[in-house]
This record gives sequence, structure tokens and C-alpha cells, in this order.
Amino acid sequence: MSHIVVVGSCSMDLVVTSNKRPNAGETVLGESFKTVPGGKGANQAVASARLGADVYMIGRVGDDTYGQDILSNLQDQGVRTSYMKPVTEMESGTAHIILAEGDNSIVVVKGANNEVTPDYVREALSTIDDIGMVLIQQEIPEETVEAVCAICSKKEIPVILNPAPARKVSQQVLDQATYITPNEHEAVLMFNGRSIEDALRQYPNKLLITEGKNGVRYFDGLKEVLVPGFPVEAVDTTGAGDTFNGALAVALTEGKSLYDALAFANLAASMSVTKFGAQGGMPTREELERKK
Ligand code: RIB
Repeated sequence: MSHIVVVGSCSMDLVVTSNKRPNAGETVLGESFKTVPGGKGANQAVASARLGADVYMIGRVGDDTYGQDILSNLQDQGVRTSYMKPVTEMESGTAHIILAEGDNSIVVVKGANNEVTPDYVREALSTIDDIGMVLIQQEIPEETVEAVCAICSKKEIPVILNPAPARKVSQQVLDQATYITPNEHEAVLMFNGRSIEDALRQYPNKLLITEGKNGVRYFDGLKEVLVPGFPVEAVDTTGAGDTFNGALAVALTEGKSLYDALAFANLAASMSVTKFGAQGGMPTREELERKK
């Protein structure tokens, strides 16, 4: 089985639930507080591993208790952590999440995720054999995303770039990534001033725009295609995008067509939102097959 390699962030999510989202300058009383593993990179690695893939995580944590907990969680989930070197004298990344009024608001403090440098990743990537797919997101330095896309393009390794959180992406990255998976908000920012229809047409079978429960949209070279989502009662949408990306990597490396891979990823993402926490609802392969 070829490997899926995730290059990205590993954080601890500090999650508060509240009936009301506070306005600027306002204090509200919350209902609960929980600490759960998160970070877009780690979430995508766990999503792929739960679906049966052989996954390496390339990332950094701090030399602190959050870092130890993040590493243990990845190992418990069957993710390979030999390229997760702790950083001394730096804190692990944290995400400060408010779940209120049916949606989340997140502030990410990158901490040790800033140390996922081009050199660190280059060295790790040079020693992993048989890579079927690389998954990357944007909670690590921009130059690392650029370096990974360049390395993979040269080695002809397919890459899924999940451009989250939103930031401008260089033309080099847009050209070198094999698949790009923004949500609608991220797509607007990436293609500033251009219509989504134009952008989809410019990147056929590559730009895959997620539209939440509506599904995923792409251009197949002839027409726009919407791969419909699966309606569910959402408990917590945190990590739905990560589940989608992790599942997409699994389905594509297994040789599914793009349409079928997106349907598989939509199903996994819909299941993920039915439980609390970014990783709490991510389905196992068995659970997903039962829902098909
Ligand atoms: O995509 C969800 C993730 O984004 C959370 O787990 C949190 O860590 C934030 O980075």
C-alpha cells in the first residue's frame, strides 16, 4: 500500500460551547470547556488513518504536555510519528474555538507549527518511500507550502492543497498542486476579483470547491459538476473540511475516479459533523461502508 503523507499543523483545540457568541467588548457565560486534539494537518492524518490508509505525519509539537498528548493521540490513531520532532522552548500550537449559534469561531496560535520549515520537510520527504499522495494545508509557513509543491511536482507525487485558513496563494503553488480544495470563502480570496465560474474553468479536475452540506463543485473539462453532499443533523462542524480532505486522499490513492472520490469524501465529512470535536466524528472505514 502506498503511503499518504500529511505535512501540516498539529494543535490542541480548546473548545468552549456557549449559547451566544460574544460581541467585541462583551462577556457571556459558556456551558462547557473541553481540550481535544486538532490542527488541520493532524486532523487530516487521523481522517485518512481511520479510513484504512498508511499515514505519515510530518509536523512539529512543543516540548510540553500538549505536545505529548498530540503525539500519543496520533499514535493511538495509527498515524506514523517518526517525523514529528518536538521543538524545545516553544509551545505546541493551540486553537481557541467557540461553538455557538450552530457554528464555530476559531483563533489559531501556531506555536511549534511555525517550525515546520522547508528544510525540515525536505529532509523528511527524501526518506519516505512509495508516497501515493501528499496533503498540505496553511497553518504552517507559506514557504513550506511552496517548497512541498515544488518537491512533489519534481518527483511527480500528487498533492492535495487544502488552502485553509485562507491566504493568497502564489501562481507557482496553483500550478504545481494536483488538487486544490478551498471552501467558497477561501476560493473568493484566492481568486480575488474573478468569478468562481472562471476559476473552475481555468483549473479543470483540479479546483474542487467545497460548499458545505451542498457538496463539492468542479469543472470536468466540459461542464460544471456538483457532487452532492449528504444531509445530516450537525452537532459540530469543526474538522469537516479536514475529514473531507483526508478521505479524498484515501479514495484517490485507491484509484477511485474523481467523482467517486469526492462522493466518498462528502460522505465521510457528513458523518464527521454528527459528533463533538474535530476528530470525534471521523468515521472508520467500516462505519463509512455501512452508510453507503
Ligand atoms: O479544521 C479544524 C481545525 O482548525 C481545528 O481542529 C483547529 O485546530 C483549527 O486549526
